[in-house]
Parts: sequence; C-alpha cells; structure tokens
Amino acid sequence: MSHTAPNTSAQTTSPGRSDGRLLAVSDLHIGIADNRPITESLFPTSDDDWLIVAGDIGELTDDIEWALRLLTSRFAKVVWAPGNHELWTPREEPLQLRGEQRYQHLVELCRGLGVVTPEDPYPVWRGPQGPVAVAPLFVLYDYSFRAPGTTTKEESLAKAHEAGVVCTDEYLLHPDPYPSRDAWCRARVQQTERRLAAHDPSVPLVLVNHYPLVREPTEVLWHPEFAQWCGTELTADWHRRFNTAAVVYGHLHIPRTTWHDGIRFEEVSIGYPREWRRRGHPRGLLRQILPYPEDAPQHDGKPKEDSA
Ligand SMILES: [Fe+2]
Ligand SMILES: [Fe+2]
Repeated sequence: MSHTAPNTSAQTTSPGRSDGRLLAVSDLHIGIADNRPITESLFPTSDDDWLIVAGDIGELTDDIEWALRLLTSRFAKVVWAPGNHELWTPREEPLQLRGEQRYQHLVELCRGLGVVTPEDPYPVWRGPQGPVAVAPLFVLYDYSFRAPGTTTKEESLAKAHEAGVVCTDEYLLHPDPYPSRDAWCRARVQQTERRLAAHDPSVPLVLVNHYPLVREPTEVLWHPEFAQWCGTELTADWHRRFNTAAVVYGHLHIPRTTWHDGIRFEEVSIGYPREWRRRGHPRGLLRQILPYPEDAPQHDGKPKEDSA
C-alpha cells in the first residue's frame, strides 16, 4: 500500500477504526485503449482506503486480472461485483468458459489476488460513523424492467429488436447451466436474499451490485427498451428490507447520486470514451461512499432527487 497520493486526511486513530475512505468506481471498460490510463490513474489518498469495483472492468480474463492486480497493489482492500462484460465469452477470450463456470473462474481469480467477491463473507469497514458491511452482490437481470407498453418478456424483447436496441449480452452472456439469463437471475436472487437475511441487522450494509436494485434510475435512459437488461423487480425492496447505508451500482453509464426511500444510491461508472469526453467526469473518477462528504449532494426530503 505504498503508492498513495499526498495524504491530506486526518491521522487520528481509534482502535479498530479506519481513517481511510470507502471509495467506488465501475465500468472501467479497459478493453478500450483510451480507458486504460484512467484505471492506471486511480490512487488512494491514504493507506486505509478501500475500493469497490462494481463491474464492467473488461471482457478478457487477462485484462480483468491486470486491473485487479494493479488496484490491489494500491488499495487496502478491493471489493468486486461482476458486470455483464466480465460474464461474456468473447471469441478472442482464450478461456472459453460459459455462464456459471466463467463466473466461478473469476471468483477464484479474485481470491488469488485477495479481492472480495459476492461468494465471500461481507468485509466490515470501520469508519467514524461506525462499522458497515460491504456486500458485493451478483443478481443479474430478468427482463422485468419491461419496455414501455409491454407486459411479457417476449413482448419486451420484441420491442427492443424493433427499435434496434438489443444488448450484446443476448449473444455473448451465456447462462449455462441455467436455461436462460432470467433463470440464472432468479437463482442468484434467492441465494443472495438468504445471505442478506442472515446478516446481523445491527451492522448497516453497503449493497454493491452492477445494476441498480430499483428501476427508477433507468427512467432517464435514452432508449427505454434497454432497461430490461438493467436489473430486476425482485430486488425493489432490498434497500428497505435490509439495514442499508448506501447502494452502489454502475452499468447505466450515468454517474450521479439519487435517493430512494431516503437511501442513497450511487451510480459510479466511468463509461466509454465517447461518453466521458462529452460529459467529463462530473463527480470525479472515484466516488467517496463513506464517510459521506458534507459538500456532496444531500437528500432534500423528496422521494427521489437527481443530483448529477
Ligand atoms: Fe458498462
Ligand atoms: Fe454493464
């Protein structure tokens, strides 16, 4: 942990408490050459900073390993949740594993690097406001964020094909051994619900998932047909059911902060060069999840507030 940027944070230490920050990023997409220097530029500001990586590092296992190895050499702890791009089986990938086998291979890769995965105990980050458990989740999507005017998965997919808005997952994200991506999603939701229900409710959770756990953040998508690849209705009440300090997600490539039922949702994506060249990085490269900065967007009491 010697590669820290100049440290301006307070150095007072109490037993068992971190003076570092809980930071987050997603959608590094390092398969695109112009995005790689962004990953190379990510540094902590203290030896105690943790980094959440909420999916879409890249597509090839060599790239994913490169990024995670770099980040684990800099941050005290790295926590990963898979994105759809990690789960693809592209033709250029030497390792032609599909679906669950590919996911399990990535979990083993992470464990070899000391990166926390959705299959591991939730690590506890101890900040000035008390401990929180950081829970990386893998719950995928099930086409229940249906396209406008449709009521079934089939209708919703047909509408996306008509509009010419079809996620590449349809061709590269294989659900094996499950019969469909939605069946895989339902299995993951059940497993994950059991784990969250067994978690000590006195320790708040930072829920980390590649997709938003509620549908509302997808309402600003340019193509509403794309929402069906962005989550599941099955997680809509998780931030209320479980003691949640914050929700961290990516995938939409719309970096911002919103509140749902008073809970903070942070979209922490970098996105593609064509996106960040246009909008810049309005909230910086690394989002500080905790301690929550006083100058960051604050909840104003409305049911939902977009502070991008
Ligand atoms: Fe992405
Ligand atoms: Fe994604």
